[in-house]
Amino acid sequence: MNRAKQAVLLVGSPKGLARSTSSRRAAVLLDALQDRGWAVSKLHIHAALRSQEDTDVLLAAAASADLVILACPLYVDSLPAPVIRVLELLHAARTRDGEETRFLTLMNCGFPEASHNDTALAICRLFARAMGWTWAGGIALGGTGMGVSGAAWHKVVRLTVDALERGEAVPDEAVALAARPPTKIWLYMLAGNLMWRRQAKKNKVRQRLGACPYAEREHS
Ligand SMILES: Cc1cc2nc3c(=O)[nH]c(=O)nc-3n(C[C@H](O)[C@H](O)[C@H](O)COP(=O)(O)O)c2cc1C
Repeated sequence: MNRAKQAVLLVGSPKGLARSTSSRRAAVLLDALQDRGWAVSKLHIHAALRSQEDTDVLLAAAASADLVILACPLYVDSLPAPVIRVLELLHAARTRDGEETRFLTLMNCGFPEASHNDTALAICRLFARAMGWTWAGGIALGGTGMGVSGAAWHKVVRLTVDALERGEAVPDEAVALAARPPTKIWLYMLAGNLMWRRQAKKNKVRQRLGACPYAEREHS
């Protein structure tokens, strides 16, 4: 009997498996794979890095998986530091056992345009190459995924799982659908600006919101 294909989801948000947007979106993909007979598991990168034992569990899970899915938020146009750490550890522990491992990344950013994720996805694609893994594509969400309704996300997931089962990468149609910005960008920006102002007030830096410290230093 053929063994079930294994997929492991690595979540790289400090918010954890339950609260992170990246995690919740990726969980739908993992459920869809499970419905198609895949054996699936989910690990939180930040939690795993807290002990050597849990780090080893994560490295072993990735090493034995047919498909590794990384889901994480965009931080300063790149990957969160614990995610970079895990990629370094995976690279240091890599083996060439002849089994194909595919790598798919789901990046999720706060700005409305999903294209902010492009650099981080390129990093992940190059990481896959350095690992000897097959790049299964990158899905980028903008506006914390608020442009993509639940129904649209299920379509992205269905198109992605169909492609994965055929041994292909995430199709362009799924990538384009996921990248939709929030329809009412002005409302999204308004809510975002309100949130920043509220936080600035709470932290007593309301007057310094427009500060450009490095630019100021350059001109002085
Ligand atoms: C420290 C930090 C840095 C961030 N940097 C960016 C950024 O460079 N570009 C962007 O569009 N969003 C940025 N964001 C927003 C997150 O990517 C966004 O809120 C994401 O949806 C969070 O996903 P999560 O719920 O899975 O953690 C940043 C958030 C934090 C906390």
